Amino acid sequence: MNIVIIGANRGIGLGFVHYYLAQGHALWASHRQSVAGLADIDLPQLQRFYWDSCEQHTESDLTALGLPEKIDLLINNGGIYGPDSSGQDIDQITSEAMQEVFMVDAVGPLMTSQALRSRVIRARGRIANLSSKMGSSGDNSSGGNYAYRAAKAALVIIGKSLAIDLSSQGVRVITLHPGWVRTDMTHQSGLIDIEESVRGMAQVIDQISNYPPGAFVAFDGQKIPY
Ligand SMILES: NC(=O)c1ccc[n+]([C@@H]2O[C@H](COP(=O)([O-])OP(=O)(O)OC[C@H]3O[C@@H](n4cnc5c(N)ncnc54)[C@H](OP(=O)(O)O)[C@@H]3O)[C@@H](O)[C@H]2O)c1
Repeated sequence: MNIVIIGANRGIGLGFVHYYLAQGHALWASHRQSVAGLADIDLPQLQRFYWDSCEQHTESDLTALGLPEKIDLLINNGGIYGPDSSGQDIDQITSEAMQEVFMVDAVGPLMTSQALRSRVIRARGRIANLSSKMGSSGDNSSGGNYAYRAAKAALVIIGKSLAIDLSSQGVRVITLHPGWVRTDMTHQSGLIDIEESVRGMAQVIDQISNYPPGAFVAFDGQKIPY
């Protein structure tokens, strides 16, 4: 398979890189300023490319970046949490923080999918978006976290619309919750390691046809309420 992973230089994205390389797939892995963990991998089946999901990309940009004509799997993994938890409570949250997190966590994956969709359609491929259970209204029992919750909720809805819009062209779309994972985002305080999260999500992606279009599914295969 030709697999494109956005936000692949560290954390869960880098975990996907290691997982799919071990399976023998061809990978295009994105980074921004720092290639970080991608610097240690020197394999011909891995191409690195600069990508900021908040920027606009034209068809000629994609060609210049060396992206494949057919993409079997696009993983929109890149994301930010925004201000630390207390910075997202009702007293602290700002319009700037809301907009920044919304831009990266919701608009970015949509713009990336828009830019790459013709290549995913050519492969009748799949798109997996990394949201979070924190974007579930049904699961929200503790409030707060306005920016992150709202942006990840928006991504669930964006994934559903993408799934509907692209289904007639043979593309399947799923929204994933990776679990609470030990990465920079959680200050390494999560409940599971990157390998367990990625292994589980890859299995869900493999079984995408067992889920309704645009379903919101955790790394362990459980459906998450919207
Ligand atoms: N860890 C968890 O427990 C957890 C739980 C639920 C959901 N998630 C979601 O899972 C995804 C990965 O999380 P993580 O824990 O691996 O986070 P992380 O360690 O903080 O890594 C985030 C990744 O996203 C990239 N990124 C940030 N902004 C970007 C942009 N504008 N364009 C492209 N890439 C961008 C980062 O690149 P730079 O190095 O350039 O910043 C980095 O590669 C995120 O979407 C996160 O919200 C994580």
